[in-house]
Amino acid sequence: MASSEPQPKPAKPHVLLIPYPAQGHVNPFLKLAKALHARGFHVTFVHTEYNHGRLLRARGAAAFDAGDEGFRFETIPDGLPLSDLDATQDIWALCKATRRTGPAAVRGLVERLNRAGDAPPVSCVVADGAMGYVVHVAKEMGLPAYLFFTPSGCGFLAYLNFDQLVKRGYVPLKDESCFTNGYLDTPVDWIAGMLPGARLRDLPTFIRTTDPDDTMLTINIKQCELDSPAADGILLNTFDDLERRALGAIRARLPNTFTVGPLGPEVAPPSYLPSLTSSLWRGDDRCVAWLDGHAEAAGSVVYVNFGSITVVTGEQMDEFAWGLAAAGSPFLWVVRPDMVRDGGGWALPEGFAEAVAGRGLTVGWCDQEAVLEHPATGGFLSHCGWNSTLESLRAGVPLLCWPFFSEQVTNCRYACEEWGVGLEMPREAGREEVEAAVRELMGAEGRGAAARRKAAEWKEKARAAVAPGGSSCANLERFVQEMALAKC
Ligand code: UDX
Repeated sequence: MASSEPQPKPAKPHVLLIPYPAQGHVNPFLKLAKALHARGFHVTFVHTEYNHGRLLRARGAAAFDAGDEGFRFETIPDGLPLSDLDATQDIWALCKATRRTGPAAVRGLVERLNRAGDAPPVSCVVADGAMGYVVHVAKEMGLPAYLFFTPSGCGFLAYLNFDQLVKRGYVPLKDESCFTNGYLDTPVDWIAGMLPGARLRDLPTFIRTTDPDDTMLTINIKQCELDSPAADGILLNTFDDLERRALGAIRARLPNTFTVGPLGPEVAPPSYLPSLTSSLWRGDDRCVAWLDGHAEAAGSVVYVNFGSITVVTGEQMDEFAWGLAAAGSPFLWVVRPDMVRDGGGWALPEGFAEAVAGRGLTVGWCDQEAVLEHPATGGFLSHCGWNSTLESLRAGVPLLCWPFFSEQVTNCRYACEEWGVGLEMPREAGREEVEAAVRELMGAEGRGAAARRKAAEWKEKARAAVAPGGSSCANLERFVQEMALAKC
């Protein structure tokens, strides 16, 4: 006879999410975290103490308050001296420091959470691909561990081949002359899954070193050789239609790879736990209203934003300013407060305001997804960070690509050559080139118009991937089930 005693509720699976502490990583991680929470997981989201402080200053305590909803935030140190500057940290120093202090911090955190007993025991870990060492800590503690690589699939494929580039003698570069003598145009067609015609210059810029012990080169090799294969699975913020060839090559090496992107409103609607946000700067509230003012001319505004890490010289900023002024389109230009190198004093050039006569809005930070989704936005001058690229594809907005570093150059090449949504702007673009490139991007005919048509096609495919029945939607559900079963 069945017992009439009430049975204890089974404990929820408890996932610990540990993003690399930079804007382009915490954003997709928070979306993934909300998606997992919506599917019944208890979530612990781990920020560094530094980023926690920044979020608190930018957003207040609400950014961490999910009520009694089983969604909590914890912090670990990042290994760098504490600071209350609201600026992007030195990525190289951060990489080294987190690797030094991260393993003990993560172990200590899991032990503390389990000892506290006010939540189900931690049952699985999703760590950033850039923090692959977490996999080994989790394994030592008997926990399943997945790695979420936040860059593109094509970028990740390039990283997976860094060891081959070294073994085959392409990297490190022989000497400084290789930066300018055409060496970077060497084809790398032998990389299975890469787009045809790929060159060394299209691979993440961390190969552009003459030092065999270069920090980013060696860290990336280790992550791909040792950490990724030790993980129970790999997550990528992309979708199968977009990167089929690269994903085939990735899955040949790492079969349990889940493509779950684009992680956008379908996966984590802004209305779900809305106060929980990951934006390290406070967005300027004027942007959407200003775009509304241009909504009659759909697609007329060029949006300019180089992400959270790019730094440029004051001279380059002047060239952008005059190029935008001459191009004629209305523009929304985000100039991050820490964007100009040694440029505490950089200001818009004299006479610029008069030259653009109310045609431009310049702000320090914005809600980028809202800007890209706005019907007035018709083109995006971007550094091709992966989130920006994907958010632009999802919104159907073509790109003017001006990559800064890492796999942004790979994303740029794919955007221009493979996906047909991008035009590339020369690295040393002066004002005339900026003007010409913006005019071409925003033009009603020619290459810009062709990129706009392609972007509209990718918008449909991107949305279909995360809609019920789509590849990313199915992969997310499969991932959820795998993790829930792994519950200890
Ligand atoms: C980059 C890229 O993530 C990555 O491809 C590369 O490997 C290293 O770093 P980032 O410069 O932050 O990071 O660019 P991006 O990936 O585009 O992420 C920026 C995020 O911040 C996006 O989600 C974007 O929507 C958001 N953002 C940016 C805003 O919300 N407002 C802004 O004003 C600017």
